[in-house]
This record gives sequence, C-alpha cells and structure tokens, in this order.
Amino acid sequence: MTIIKTKDFILRPLKLSDAKPYFEVMQDEETQRNFTTFPKTFAEAKEEIRQDLKEMKEKGSEYFTIEINEEYAGNVVLQHQNFDPQSGEGRVHLWIHPKFRGRGLATKALGELVNYGLKTKYKRIFAQCKAINKGVIKINKKLDFKKVKTHIVKDKYCPQGIKKILFVKEKPCYKCTVRSDLVMKTYIHWYVEVSDSPTPIGWLYIILNRHVEYFDELTDVELLELKKIIKELKEMLIKAFEPDWFNVMQLGNGGRHIHFHLVPRYKGKIKFDGKTFTDPDYGKMLNDRYKPYSNKKLLLKLRDYLKKSL
Ligand SMILES: CC(C)(COP(=O)(O)OP(=O)(O)OC[C@H]1O[C@@H](n2cnc3c(N)ncnc32)[C@H](O)[C@@H]1OP(=O)(O)O)[C@@H](O)C(=O)NCCC(=O)NCCS
Ligand SMILES: [Zn+2]
Repeated sequence: MTIIKTKDFILRPLKLSDAKPYFEVMQDEETQRNFTTFPKTFAEAKEEIRQDLKEMKEKGSEYFTIEINEEYAGNVVLQHQNFDPQSGEGRVHLWIHPKFRGRGLATKALGELVNYGLKTKYKRIFAQCKAINKGVIKINKKLDFKKVKTHIVKDKYCPQGIKKILFVKEKPCYKCTVRSDLVMKTYIHWYVEVSDSPTPIGWLYIILNRHVEYFDELTDVELLELKKIIKELKEMLIKAFEPDWFNVMQLGNGGRHIHFHLVPRYKGKIKFDGKTFTDPDYGKMLNDRYKPYSNKKLLLKLRDYLKKSL
C-alpha cells in the first residue's frame, strides 16, 4: 500500500498495533456523538482493526494512519463507493485523536487523501457526515467538496434514521489545470494548441479559457472572437501547408471542457521536417484518427513553424 509523506505528517497503512490510540479516539465523546457505531471495549477496537485490514485486502480499501513523529494521530480512509471497484467513485472517512485536534490536521490529511484518490483512481469522491457535525462540514467545504443532499439514512444500527449530509468532490478538469507546451497563441477568451496527433498535419484545438461544456453556454463575445480566430488560423494554415479544405468540429467526447477542432484537409501529401503526412479520409468525415505522436521535437517544431506563418 501507498505511503504519503508531507512536511507535517505521514500517511502509512493502518496496523493492529494502532489499536490503543485508535480505541482512545473511539472513547472520546465528540467521536461518539458523530459516529453511528463505535467499539465499546479494547477487544472490540482490535477486532474492528482486524476487519479493516481484511477489507483492505479483499475490497481495495485504503486505511491510512496519520503519523506525526512516529506517533498515531488519527486515520483517513479511502474506499470504493459502495465497495464497487468498477464505479470509478471513492468514499472517504476520517477521525483525529483528541490530542491532535484543533491544528488543521484533519483538513490537511483529508486534503492529501482526496488529491491522491482523484489523481490515481477516482473521477469523484464522496464524503458523508451527520448534519450536526459542524467540524466535518467545515472541513469538507474548505476542501471544495460540494453538498449533494441532506437526507435521512436508516441502517441496522439506526433503524429510526439519522439526518446526514452527502458531499462530493469531482476530479478537476484536465484542461482547467494543465497548459500544454503545444500552446501556439493565446487570445482574450481562447487559446490555441497544436494537436499532438498531426494527421492531418496542422490540426489545431481552439480552447476556451473558462470551463464551459455546451456550445450554447458560450457568450456572444466569445463566439465573435472564435470566428475571428478561425479566420486568422485558416489564413495561417493556408500560408503554411495550402490545405484543400477545412473542418471545424465541436465534439467533447474525450474531454468536455469546450474546445473546437480546426482541421485542415489535404487531397495530396504534405512534407514537413523530412516526413510525409497524408489525409487518407479526404472528402469524408475524419475517422477516429486521434493518435498521439511520440515525436515531441517534431510537434514543437510544428508549433513554431505555424507561429511564424501567423
Ligand atoms: C471533526 C474532526 C475530524 C476535526 O479534526 P481537526 O483536526 O480538529 O480539524 P481541523 O483542525 O482541520 O479543523 C478545520 C476547521 O473546522 C473547525 N472545527 C473542527 N472541529 C469543529 C467542531 N467540533 N465544531 C465546529 N468547528 C470545528 C475548526 O475550527 C477549523 O476551522 P478554522 O479553519 O476556521 O479554524 C475531529 O474533531 C474528529 O475526529 N471528530 C470525531 C470524528 C468525526 O467526526 N469524524 C467524521 C465522521 S463523518
Ligand atoms: Zn475545464
């Protein structure tokens, strides 16, 4: 299992030897108020940890102990939502030892866990707490979780039901967080990137600076600038490669952050940097042709060559 090291603490796998401080957390009044069930004896606490270790092996859950200077400070837990590994969704839990509360540890440790989960395996992560749990509500908000709903949850431990709040945090959009080095030009509302799939050569993406998913969410100002950009880029491509036709597409199948494809189409062969590029489906829809090119040097050359043709 993973170990996550930060300057304030480490997250390492839960061990049976954590049972003593774990039981201390479970004996705390605040913990008992906010949990539906908790171990009543040290033997029960140990048995719970044994079950958790089993769950880690059998269900892919990750129980991390927060350790500060080799001392147990609490736990953060990452599970598959409904224990379903196919869901692509995660679920978190946490508790901090009373000795370590009130210094931002829950926020930091849960933040690390959520980043790790969204980076490595989940598209969204859920968190749920009792509606009375002011601390966790605040922590979730600080970590940018959004409230899904307040609802009454009934289970075998609480058949009369208990009011809980469900939160979710989505994986951040790739285009909102990463600027590729293939960006060729930036405008007020858009930026232009050379596709890393250079068949047909000169394929470009025109990407909106803000996160919007549907065409009809664009403002008139954004649309007007888009038209101007397409005109400018067409002229640039004509100068660079003399294409025979252009396609403008908006699809969003691979990533929904709105972007347009400006695709130059060629009847014949185009030579660039000693290589020959073709357009096998000329006169037809561009078939599922997105094939990233590993030759980064050539892509950067292409970016600079097109820039010069602007
Ligand atoms: C809730 C809990 C995890 C908070 O741990 P913590 O390390 O003290 O939390 P943080 O220091 O990161 O607190 C973050 C914020 O929440 C606030 N907060 C924490 N506990 C709070 C409480 N009981 N009531 C109101 N606010 C609280 C803090 O003041 C802080 O706000 P600030 O940044 O404006 O000062 C801890 O008290 C705990 O383990 N409780 C019992 C178990 C539990 O409830 N687990 C979750 C079950 S769903
Ligand atoms: Zn986005």
